[in-house]
Amino acid sequence: MNSDGGYTIGLPPVATTYGGDIDALMMLLHVVMVAMFVIWGVYLAYCLFKYRATEGGKATYHQAGEKASFIPDGIILAFEVWLILAFGIPLWAELKQETPPVADSLEIHMVAEQFAWNFQYAGPDGKFGRRDTKFISASNPMGIDDDDPASADDVTTINNLYVPVDKPFILRMTSKDVIHDFQVTNFRNKQDVVPGMMTTLWFEPNRTGKYEIGCAQLCGLGHTKMVGNVFVKSQEEYDEWFKEELEYKLADAGTAPSSNS
Ligand code: CUA
Repeated sequence: MNSDGGYTIGLPPVATTYGGDIDALMMLLHVVMVAMFVIWGVYLAYCLFKYRATEGGKATYHQAGEKASFIPDGIILAFEVWLILAFGIPLWAELKQETPPVADSLEIHMVAEQFAWNFQYAGPDGKFGRRDTKFISASNPMGIDDDDPASADDVTTINNLYVPVDKPFILRMTSKDVIHDFQVTNFRNKQDVVPGMMTTLWFEPNRTGKYEIGCAQLCGLGHTKMVGNVFVKSQEEYDEWFKEELEYKLADAGTAPSSNS
């Protein structure tokens, strides 16, 4: 119920705009399940006591045609329909279908592999450099075509994802080998990353900090080591970080004005 980042239901602090709603829904489910458990438990104990074996006791049976009450089942059914219609479907739609407009977001491409997360940032031109499997090498795990003008200002990172706070970011993801699953527990959402197709996931982080990325799909011997970090920074820090990364990259390519950095 507490969306300001405190530990709520045994999960790490929430760090996205919709995380609080997920926790509230899980809390509601738990509270109602506990209530049902207690009510049914008490009723069971009552029946065990009331209908215990007694001297001369005799079982009674419903006669054919006599109906048992539908009321308890009806209450549970109504509750479940309410949960699905009032909470489940709207929240699912928000998470999985209402991706924010790209113009207001930071779009990042990700290619997963055994056992790493590779991220590509489009840079100031907003265009992602072309990728092709034929360019994949140890130093170019995403297979970015360096001859494509759009890749000139692209930046790539491995396992570390940097994003500004209070701004949605959209991950467009695919995999080189097997199915992986991108998960950040603090963000309360996850998505399969599938070879041969592009899947999308969006977050709007609302707390700065460092949050662990995990792979939530068994993908091989290194599955448990397939971890990374999201660094949620202020917009200024993010811009500064990006500028430095781009400078390093250009210096490496020998095209920077100063190659001493
Ligand atoms: Cu990748 Cu598990």
